[in-house]
Amino acid sequence: MSWHPDLLADQAAVVAGGGRGIGAAIARALASAGAAVCVIDVETDRASEVVDTITSAGGQAIAIQAELRDPRQVESAFDNAVTSFGGVNVLVNVAGGMHAYAPWRRLADWDEDAWDEILDRNLRYVFLTTRAMLRHLLVAGTGGSVVNIASISGETSAPNHTAYGAAKAGLTNLTRTLAVEYGPDQIRFNAVAPGSVATPAVADRVHGNSAAPLQRWATPEDIANAVVFLASPLASYVTGQTLLVDGGASANFPLTTPTPIPLVNEEAP
Ligand SMILES: NC(=O)c1ccc[n+]([C@@H]2O[C@H](COP(=O)([O-])OP(=O)(O)OC[C@H]3O[C@@H](n4cnc5c(N)ncnc54)[C@H](O)[C@@H]3O)[C@@H](O)[C@H]2O)c1
Repeated sequence: MSWHPDLLADQAAVVAGGGRGIGAAIARALASAGAAVCVIDVETDRASEVVDTITSAGGQAIAIQAELRDPRQVESAFDNAVTSFGGVNVLVNVAGGMHAYAPWRRLADWDEDAWDEILDRNLRYVFLTTRAMLRHLLVAGTGGSVVNIASISGETSAPNHTAYGAAKAGLTNLTRTLAVEYGPDQIRFNAVAPGSVATPAVADRVHGNSAAPLQRWATPEDIANAVVFLASPLASYVTGQTLLVDGGASANFPLTTPTPIPLVNEEAP
């Protein structure tokens, strides 16, 4: 299955955190649907590798190295993308996560720096990228679409998820609020909230249980397909929404303990 290559023709997308995992799959999927893609990542090699994959398949893409928590680097990355593509009308905020940045623990055991870091990495940087995008879009007057990668952790509750869950819940509220603020400018804001996705960031857990009724972890491509839909004209009347792509996990009241099941995507590290 693949997207029609004209779906996003004449569109240019920035994927913030597109160097690996879900972001890399989103960058590839947007390009396969016809968009020119700017992959921003703090890890240059990762971004370049994704761009190479896209361009060798005939797509258009550039890599930009930037730390998304730094306002100046974000502004410069957007200027670069706008200059390279003659404008940008899709932004996907993917960077974030928990595993690499702080241990899972209950609230009494958090220190201020770790708490701030999780909020910075999952919520505050989205303010910076979205502000840069909006300043460009409001001048261009073209309208646009922003998709934020939230999490099932922002929709439901679990022990040890305080900072991460709060950041992701903040992200879905930010998404709705911006949809209202910028609807009159024809700029749509939506979020995708994944359940467990087999990516390098969670490699230590990919053979664990899945609470999803569909009985497998998501692949990064499962998430990317939802993003392409929301970014595209197929979703032209959809804004302010959070689409849970979780195999039904959030609908599953756990009357039984899920049994361990093997990961479908065995190639994931
Ligand atoms: N993997 C899951 O199970 C899962 C589930 C729900 C939500 N999510 C969310 O999906 C998103 C992507 O997750 P993933 O597992 O693909 O992560 P990942 O760590 O595999 O990839 C994230 C990429 O973003 C880059 N990045 C991170 N912070 C950055 C920064 N400040 N500046 C520039 N680049 C930065 C990293 O270098 C990396 O290449 C995250 O927001 C995460 O919270 C993941």
